[in-house]
Amino acid sequence: EKGGHDYFMLKEIAEQPKAVADTLLGRIDAAGSLTLDEVRIPAPVLREVDKVVVVACGTAFHAGMIAKYAVEHWTRIPCEVEPASEFRYRDPILGPRSLVIAISQSGETMDTLMAVRHAREQGSHVLAICNTNGSTIPRESDAVLYTHAGPEVAVASTKAFLTQLVACYLVALYLGQVRGTQWGDEIGAVVRDLSGISGAVERVLKTMEPVRALARSLAAKNTVLFLGRHVGHPVALEGALKLKELAYMHAEGFAAGELKHGPIALIEDDMPVVVVVPSPRGRSVLHDKIVSNIQEIRARGARTIVIAEEGDEAVVPYADHLIRIPATPTLLQPLVATVPLQVFACELATARGNEVDQPRNLAKSVTVE
Ligand code: F6R
Repeated sequence: EKGGHDYFMLKEIAEQPKAVADTLLGRIDAAGSLTLDEVRIPAPVLREVDKVVVVACGTAFHAGMIAKYAVEHWTRIPCEVEPASEFRYRDPILGPRSLVIAISQSGETMDTLMAVRHAREQGSHVLAICNTNGSTIPRESDAVLYTHAGPEVAVASTKAFLTQLVACYLVALYLGQVRGTQWGDEIGAVVRDLSGISGAVERVLKTMEPVRALARSLAAKNTVLFLGRHVGHPVALEGALKLKELAYMHAEGFAAGELKHGPIALIEDDMPVVVVVPSPRGRSVLHDKIVSNIQEIRARGARTIVIAEEGDEAVVPYADHLIRIPATPTLLQPLVATVPLQVFACELATARGNEVDQPRNLAKSVTVE
């Protein structure tokens, strides 16, 4: 049942190229347009949307943070994202022109369900992004876009996360398509890139042996920090969450630019710091800034573990360990950058003798508030 793998988590990590491809299947037509007819929110309603609000928990929340970049860039509609558990308690400003996107692998997370109910009471349209057919959250939403990750058994979410990202990109691009934004040409190009992304995930998986060896060598460490900028920030948060839940280590993710405002004081000699580096071809300012962040932490003794695109030579002098990922457009990079972090956490958990599929204190779906 684990398909020759020691753990469901390893099996599910390995299934990611297929999960991503299956989630795209039938949603892009031959002409490169998106066909999300199954999202039964009528085009005129989508054209009127003046605000997008994403609610989700844990890993799904990190997917939502990435969705915000995609929605705002491709549609220019303001997008908020909030942990579902906080949402209704601040009396959020919602109306009939708000589109609320609820992301949930299980479709049963109580915090997210309560946020959905609250949004519908305010007259907003709710679109669920969900991996479980017929579960409660899609049933209570106006519309649903299913992710096709297949059943996820390991408590720590991996393949569901990647498919949540794909679904978020599809929704953002679809909104852009329906509304005919100024990014029309870019949307076509991104749809093409998205079609090839499953192959890129496959390539990352083939190069994970050094990441495993590195993880094993860090089994006695107490703390690992994760840094990223732009969409690399939620990726850093996700890397830290995986490490906490699986390896039971102190792990924190930061927006790299925030480091100098306090957290840099945490850096001690030989402390592992994972840095997710944006593409040098995209927003090159961001790339250059993060290279100086890497220099700063290394000067203070950090052991730098750098995740950077193939061909990015600028990071080489400052990387104690270099993990290469295929070149992708900036917004899509989380689909490849997250994979090494999943493998890293899984291997560290194993090296520390932890139960990978069933971490202590956690349940697969959290059905209490
Ligand atoms: C982390 C993890 C959790 C879930 C969260 C939401 O690896 O699995 O953080 O992402 O509990 O669960 P769903 O997506 O089922 O609503």
